[in-house]
Amino acid sequence: MNPRILVFAGSLRTGAYSIRTADAATKELAEQGAEVTRISLGDYPLPLVNQDLEKERGIPENAMKLGRLIAAHDGFLIASPEYNASIPPLVKNTIDWVSRIRNDGGRTFNPYRGKVAALCSSSEGNLGGIRCLYHLRAVLMNCQVEIITPQCSVSRAHGAFDENGDLKEERLRKTMQNVCSTLIERARMLSVRMDG
Ligand SMILES: Cc1cc2nc3c(=O)[nH]c(=O)nc-3n(C[C@H](O)[C@H](O)[C@H](O)COP(=O)(O)O)c2cc1C
Repeated sequence: MNPRILVFAGSLRTGAYSIRTADAATKELAEQGAEVTRISLGDYPLPLVNQDLEKERGIPENAMKLGRLIAAHDGFLIASPEYNASIPPLVKNTIDWVSRIRNDGGRTFNPYRGKVAALCSSSEGNLGGIRCLYHLRAVLMNCQVEIITPQCSVSRAHGAFDENGDLKEERLRKTMQNVCSTLIERARMLSVRMDG
């Protein structure tokens, strides 16, 4: 069976490099046979995590929707920008809200359980936002998500994509291919184990 992969970018900015990186990953994953669902976090607005809010009103419906989406896929891929060498608030807030989910309709529910993820980043700088990925990896591992080792950081992102949205540099294209094939392979193995 083809693994189901959820893809989203960690930016809502018009023309965001991370959106272009997520698009390139989506295309590559689909070409390699994954069933890809591409979403925008802009369609799931969330308040800042606040435990008073959680106590009064429970987990926001959009966090539940994202949690159910993650659970309905074998794995996910995040393409994130880097803010001050770390995780942008949009990405961290999303991960944090979903991590607060304990049940759905009275049944125990942990959306991250048994999931595998791949990480990409992008930046106009030479490091391509790679410093964010150290932190993102650690945070998601703490949520019990398995993170594949290959990752793709798009440096000098303003000039990295051609008019079709493909990565211009052969080295980066190969890196993205490796990220996607590794994610698909691992998601396939995990889904067999979960089904069996
Ligand atoms: C608060 C803030 C902090 C930033 N810190 C970094 C940084 O540490 N490293 C970096 O390469 N770019 C940094 N940038 C620049 C972003 O990488 C750049 O705006 C990028 O285009 C944002 O990603 P996007 O194109 O996906 O929206 C920062 C931007 C903001 C708003």
